[in-house]
Amino acid sequence: PALRDPTDFGAAIRTIPDYPKPGILFRDITTLLADPASFSAAVDALVAGHRDDRVDLVAGIEARGFILGGALAHQLSAGFVPIRKKGKLPHDTVRIAYSLEYGVDEMEMHRDAVRPGQRVLLTDDLIATGGTAEGAVRLLRELGAEIVAACFVIDLPDLGGRRKLEAMGVEVRTLVA
Ligand code: PRP
Ligand code: ADE
Repeated sequence: PALRDPTDFGAAIRTIPDYPKPGILFRDITTLLADPASFSAAVDALVAGHRDDRVDLVAGIEARGFILGGALAHQLSAGFVPIRKKGKLPHDTVRIAYSLEYGVDEMEMHRDAVRPGQRVLLTDDLIATGGTAEGAVRLLRELGAEIVAACFVIDLPDLGGRRKLEAMGVEVRTLVA
């Protein structure tokens, strides 16, 4: 059989209806991550265009943003900083409440995770309402980060997250809508 095009990211993502709540179509990237050609192609596509951006740090949003973030940081020879759900980080933190497509939560960063002026690439697997990414941008800016861009494998354009981030002055890059 013909090999699947590794850049056909939509074909590598699985959709689960009514998870985690009735009415949500959950876009599951575990199938993409488990496929070596797809995972590699996704990481390459996300870093393309940022190699000359002098990225100091990649910031990944728990939990799925960690998987991509480590790979992106390695590709860009950048550091990695985690943006975590509340209560998980051991040192002094900054915290913000946020809402997402199917809930509300709080996220935190270490107060010393970013030095003012450091150039940060934000990443997560998916942007839906943009509530999560907006919270992350606010935390990063509170610490003085310069946000180079925010990148995601999946955009759910009907939910408006991309527009929300762009209205905050953040460049957004996504691989599949
Ligand atoms: C998912 C996803 C994004 C967020 C997007 O994370 O990984 O972080 O929702 O939704 P939004 O654009 O509407 O804010 P989730 O909170 O389910 O956490 P997980 O990665 O730990 O599963
Ligand atoms: N996070 C927010 N909305 C989501 C969706 N529809 N699928 C997967 N993760 C999500």
